[in-house]
Amino acid sequence: MGEKITLSVIKADVGGFVGHSTVHPELLKKANQVLAERKELIDFFVGTVGDDINLIMTHKKGVDSEEIHKLAWETFLACTEVAKQLKLYGAGQDLLADAFSGNVKGMGPGVAEMEFEERKSEPICVFMADKTEPGAWNLPLYKIFADPFNTIGLVIDPKMHAGFKFEVQDLMENKKVVFDCPEEIYDMLVFIGAPSHYCIKNIYTKSGEIAATSTTQRLNLMAGRYVGKDDPVCIVRCQSGLPAVGEVLEPFAQPHLVAGWMRGSHMGPLMPVSMKNAVPSRFDGPPRVVGLGFQLAEGKLVGPQDFFADVGFDKARELANDVANYIRRMGPFEPHRLGLNEMEYTTMPDVMQKLKDRFQDL
Ligand code: F6R
Ligand code: MG
Ligand code: MG
Repeated sequence: MGEKITLSVIKADVGGFVGHSTVHPELLKKANQVLAERKELIDFFVGTVGDDINLIMTHKKGVDSEEIHKLAWETFLACTEVAKQLKLYGAGQDLLADAFSGNVKGMGPGVAEMEFEERKSEPICVFMADKTEPGAWNLPLYKIFADPFNTIGLVIDPKMHAGFKFEVQDLMENKKVVFDCPEEIYDMLVFIGAPSHYCIKNIYTKSGEIAATSTTQRLNLMAGRYVGKDDPVCIVRCQSGLPAVGEVLEPFAQPHLVAGWMRGSHMGPLMPVSMKNAVPSRFDGPPRVVGLGFQLAEGKLVGPQDFFADVGFDKARELANDVANYIRRMGPFEPHRLGLNEMEYTTMPDVMQKLKDRFQDL
């Protein structure tokens, strides 16, 4: 047994340029500087999507390592300083705590981590999304690991034919349940079809090896008030008994509707884009997803390959723009606008208070 590698992706929005649209190059420079000076990591890549900085890091310290979480926290703090100097929008917004306390979970940043023995060749995809929520991965993860119309490997690769195990978390009740797929897909879909409430956290092979993991923090729930969307990250290992890279990317060719557009209070299509084109602008969106590919080599991140730069996703972008045009016509009406319980902004209590004496019994 070789030594295990940990891949940690820790992300935060510590200031937008301009508004909530992108990360300023000076912040990117700072994050790279801080991480390059540190000895804890084997390797790192700083990715961005919209206004989010994603620290993609490899090391040998396992998941939930205090050292690595502290390193990420300090990096975001350093970036916050720069954001404050430039008076970027929402400087430090995702750093909810005043001081680091052992683990960044619950402190604002999003975390997706997995520890595994690096295979002979270890292709991985890191998906990073902006203007949406963790449940946005439910549909693509289901397609990748449970839908033979997406992943032909489930049918014709003997190493995948047994299916996968899905760990689903209930974000409201803080509980989890594991489903065996394909045996239990109908049971599982009852839950994961409600992505604002139930999220796929981890996916394992039937022999228990980690295949995918995602961030499941919901900032608004943590802070009890609106503090920015909990733009999520997802890591997927690929090939040799796991879904092929192309099977992992395929669901994003059909942009699905996700929650999180404008003020975290609207549905919109999840548009696959290159890192360069991850600049949510129209109505602060539409929601974006970037897919970065890496080959691991003794923990070194060989890459990235910016997958959605491929012209093969041009039609998906076109469709996402058409869907955006269509759904925008609904303006403040559901289902473009989210339901009352899901909106991150609301004036309802104030308006209700103002009108309370005018409501009459029917
Ligand atoms: C942020 C987001 C944006 C903001 C909107 C209003 O991730 O989704 O749509 O919610 O720009 O921002 P504030 O309230 O900061 O003016
Ligand atoms: Mg923001
Ligand atoms: Mg964001």
